Amino acid sequence: MSKTVQQDSQRIDALREQIRTLNYHYYVLDDPQASDPEYDRLMAELKALEDRHPALVTDDSPSQRVGGKAEEGFAEVVHAVPMLSLDNGFEEQDIADFDRRVRERLEGIDSVEYFCEPKLDGLAISIRYEKGRLVRAATRGDGRTGEDVTANVRTIKSVPLRLQGDGFPDVLEARGEVFISHAGFEAMNEQARRDGSKLFVNPRNAAAGSLRQLDSSLTAARPLEIYFYGVGEVSESLAERHSEMLDRMKSFGLRINPEVKLVEGAAGCLSYHADMASRRSSLAYDIDGVVYKVDRLDQQRELGFVSRAPRWAIAHKFPAQEETTVVRNVDFQVGRTGALTPVARLEPVFVGGVTVSNATLHNMDEIERLDVRVGDTVIIRRAGDVIPEVVKVVASRRPKTAKRVSMPTQCPVCASDVIREEGEAVARCTGGLVCAAQRKEALKHFASRKALDIEGLGDKLIEQFVDADLLHSPADIYRLRKHADTLKEWDGLGEKSVDKLLASIEKSRATTLPRFLFGLGIREVGEATAQQLALHFGSLDKLMSAEIENLVQVPDVGPIVASRIHDFFSESHNRSVIKDLVAALRWDDLDSVGDGPRPLEGLTFVITGTLDSMTRDEAKQQLQALGAKVTGSVSKKTDFLVAGEAAGSKLAKAESLGVPVLDEAGLKKKLAE
Ligand code: IVH
Repeated sequence: MSKTVQQDSQRIDALREQIRTLNYHYYVLDDPQASDPEYDRLMAELKALEDRHPALVTDDSPSQRVGGKAEEGFAEVVHAVPMLSLDNGFEEQDIADFDRRVRERLEGIDSVEYFCEPKLDGLAISIRYEKGRLVRAATRGDGRTGEDVTANVRTIKSVPLRLQGDGFPDVLEARGEVFISHAGFEAMNEQARRDGSKLFVNPRNAAAGSLRQLDSSLTAARPLEIYFYGVGEVSESLAERHSEMLDRMKSFGLRINPEVKLVEGAAGCLSYHADMASRRSSLAYDIDGVVYKVDRLDQQRELGFVSRAPRWAIAHKFPAQEETTVVRNVDFQVGRTGALTPVARLEPVFVGGVTVSNATLHNMDEIERLDVRVGDTVIIRRAGDVIPEVVKVVASRRPKTAKRVSMPTQCPVCASDVIREEGEAVARCTGGLVCAAQRKEALKHFASRKALDIEGLGDKLIEQFVDADLLHSPADIYRLRKHADTLKEWDGLGEKSVDKLLASIEKSRATTLPRFLFGLGIREVGEATAQQLALHFGSLDKLMSAEIENLVQVPDVGPIVASRIHDFFSESHNRSVIKDLVAALRWDDLDSVGDGPRPLEGLTFVITGTLDSMTRDEAKQQLQALGAKVTGSVSKKTDFLVAGEAAGSKLAKAESLGVPVLDEAGLKKKLAE
């Protein structure tokens, strides 16, 4: 070998070693030791050297992940040790029974140690290492024979092509689950959307499809990952316990899920289950349950197998998040702003731990994308607290009688015209407050906590009052007291609760301008915009007479929002409701920022503790109306701290920084100055 070839060869070895170590820290220890660009530079250097010296390329070089096309499909692989499945348990009792059976078989053992692992929802894979080199990877198949997917598995970056160190046995079949994280799944679908190709239904299907690509360069572009959880054939035993075995596998560079835990008895298993169930939705990937395994391998051997599952392990499943069911009908629900949302009425199914009979279809675009028809069998998903949704139609089970869904041209509630504006995904009922559905939603919004905050006037009651013709507009809420006697006769409403409700309605008459504006439910006007509008104009009159060019002066108000606000106040029906409300309510106008004096301009205040005569929000508004800036934390830049009762750490900080402190009387003096 010439000198330069020798030097290059040494450099190649060094780079491979360095990259393998970086991979190990990144994937196995979850402790990156280099930035991405740094890693990329090393890899580029290695590839360049290998290009220069093709003779020096080896199979287990970290640069050699992609290659090989399986033109003829995948070859069969017979598993030397069959890949088993697991018994399932769902209830606590199933786990107690499992633990009892284990103890009965292991005579003389009172309490068993179990190793608990998340049950990932992906695909089982068996990867064979000989003398530390990856020689074959196979799918589970029917447990005895699987498919040779070596070329594809080699592209998974968390699968080492070569084991680390020298303590590994000559033959080691490492088994684990190949999966795609939620983030990886979103990215894949994002790409599919850009390409206009079909979306993947869930991460599991995406992983399965990726692993079965005939061209491994396609698999390489998919975000597949792996966690190992066991072994198949091994030439020598690795440990005396399952937990120690996984520790050793980890030391060879095989990635083990960090969420695993050793526990004692069925009680330990159940508390692990509860913990993982509560964290399920915040994990980076889907799990469909947890697995408990007897930790001592001698005990595992003693317990043995029944048919195709070990007696020493059980999967404790979570309620399924996906189920199939039939669409009985599609209805359209009308929201506060008139938006029509299609809702699938379903044959009830138990999914995600509850019985579901409705699922949202979002909008017409979504119906078209999924091609959902009445009568279709569909897969629905309910994950965590998320609203159930239809993810896919099972096309092969579509009956001949299946009916297409179309957007109604008339509102199903009030029969007003439905229009779909250019470029918008949603169609809307044009009925406004004439539409009972919009009225109900508008009233719920008006009474809600961040608006008029009418305690006791909940969604159910509002619906009943609208249906009974007691409420047409928000102003009618303040006329309910005339109906006190009728209300007291109502089912479910007693004398006491009616009195309480009327009292809280009375209380809500004293409000603030921002709450009132938010409560009107003008499209695009949320809490923050309502606040800005109140501050800018100071009074309702000024706001109502503002032109678009005045409105766009307000922070966060663009031309679209400005025209929504302008349209809302131009509508005669809205003006008459507002007139009624103004007569029923009271609030203090603010000095408008737009034109009033701004004596506190340039000063920064922080408010803490409880004030007597006003809330912190009200104090903030008054200060802002005079031009002050009000922030949340004390710093050297703070000019005054307003400290009410029970002020805590902010007061201490202000004192330590020498920031002047005002009590409530001091604040009032400042406001009056
Ligand atoms: S152990 C002999 N552990 O569940 C034990 N399996 O129903 C064999 N799975 O095909 C499996 N996470 O795909 C085991 N931590 C885990 C697992 C796990 C997911 C899958 C695996 C297997 C199926 C068994």
